[in-house]
Amino acid sequence: MAETGFYAAHIFVCLNERPADHPRGCCLAKGSAALRDYMKSAVKAAGVPSARVNIAGCLERCELGPVMVIYPDDVWYHYKTEADIDEIIQTHLLGGGRVERLMLAPSQKRLTEAQAAAE
Ligand code: FES
Repeated sequence: MAETGFYAAHIFVCLNERPADHPRGCCLAKGSAALRDYMKSAVKAAGVPSARVNIAGCLERCELGPVMVIYPDDVWYHYKTEADIDEIIQTHLLGGGRVERLMLAPSQKRLTEAQAAAE
């Protein structure tokens, strides 16, 4: 993992909330607050060096949420469970790899068929 900034991994987790009937939905309604809390403690427990987990407002991937982005790698993830977060920590943050099945393309507006099937 490249260490070009203040942190080797600066992780932004969307906790944006919209009204329940909003057509785009929101990450908070899909459980992002509890999963962010889990990620923060799991990153610390795993001893990930130079990592920071921050709350973000809307990252404009609402339909794909919950979403997070990891900089400076500029890798976006859709995640649903603590197991997804564990995999991101082990594979990406500690291993320097990518969790391909959870990755979002920058231009992506909807979940792929494979991502939706894993729901
Ligand atoms: S509400 Fe999370 S990306 Fe918009």
